[in-house]
Amino acid sequence: MPQPNPWFSSPADAVDRLAASGYLADPATATTAYLAGALEKPLLVEGPAGVGKTELAKAVARVTGADLVRLQCYEGLDEARALYEWNYKKQLLSIQASAAAKQAANGGATSNGDLRDHEIFTDEFLLTRPLLTAIRREDPTVLLIDEVDKTDVEVEGLLLEVLSDFQVTIPELGTVAAVRRPFVVLTSNATRELSEAVKRRCLYLHLEYPDAEREREIVTSQVPDLEDRVAAQLVATIGKLRDLDLKKAPSIAESVDWARTLVALEIGELDDKAVTDTLGVVLKHASDQERAIKELRLKA
Ligand SMILES: Nc1ncnc2c1ncn2[C@@H]1O[C@H](COP(=O)(O)OP(=O)(O)O)[C@@H](O)[C@H]1O
Ligand SMILES: [Mg+2]
Repeated sequence: MPQPNPWFSSPADAVDRLAASGYLADPATATTAYLAGALEKPLLVEGPAGVGKTELAKAVARVTGADLVRLQCYEGLDEARALYEWNYKKQLLSIQASAAAKQAANGGATSNGDLRDHEIFTDEFLLTRPLLTAIRREDPTVLLIDEVDKTDVEVEGLLLEVLSDFQVTIPELGTVAAVRRPFVVLTSNATRELSEAVKRRCLYLHLEYPDAEREREIVTSQVPDLEDRVAAQLVATIGKLRDLDLKKAPSIAESVDWARTLVALEIGELDDKAVTDTLGVVLKHASDQERAIKELRLKA
């Protein structure tokens, strides 16, 4: 019997429930999140650092009561870290124990530990990694495959079976199919193009920095003590900084940090001096700070 779909009942439902947990989604994001659940399709979210890609997956897990299983991608990530690995040490010990037991039974004559493959390639000797873990879970699960663009292209090959068939094939054991399909979110900072094969299997969402209005809502919802006036000034300044050609544009997380800083310093007016004094909270490269001071004509 098919399990009831535990995700969102409509795009509006996604907006409301995500907002209730602190994630303010724009209409495109909410619609795509709804569709990913309703169609049981993996969702690929692409965009610059700090626009809420990872947080979207976490928020979906939070509001749906699902557990989050996370595969953090990095250069050199391989099958043994992404899918599963055989516990060789345990297999070896088991073979030795079996040999010792036979030797004792044979009155001391040596014997090979002739365990058959089917005795040491069983679940007991399997170390499951995030992709297999998510596939095997019986409770609602959000599978976050974070920063896919950081892996080597070959790793995308490992993902395909999971993304298209929600299953993992283990040569010694057979195919493990999902009992309940996880809600899959892949994120990418677009440092390289992902393969067409991966893209074809996913719904696609491009996330950008939010508009001023939404960013103000995000900031004030996380830092309620921030005065409206300062919030407006902060969001406007962040927007100007993002328009400059910086090494690293300020992310939403940095807007929020900045808001906390201004509250802590009891700054009631974000004037040039206040901006200059606190610039290190939002810009983390000396060259970016110099550029901002020059272009925004701040007095250093
Ligand atoms: N739509 C949003 N609503 C509320 N907070 C957000 C939103 N988008 C981003 N954030 C905040 O920005 C931070 C950075 O987002 P994150 O998901 O880590 O960025 P990335 O896109 O690099 O994965 C989050 O911890 C969260 O606090
Ligand atoms: Mg992220």
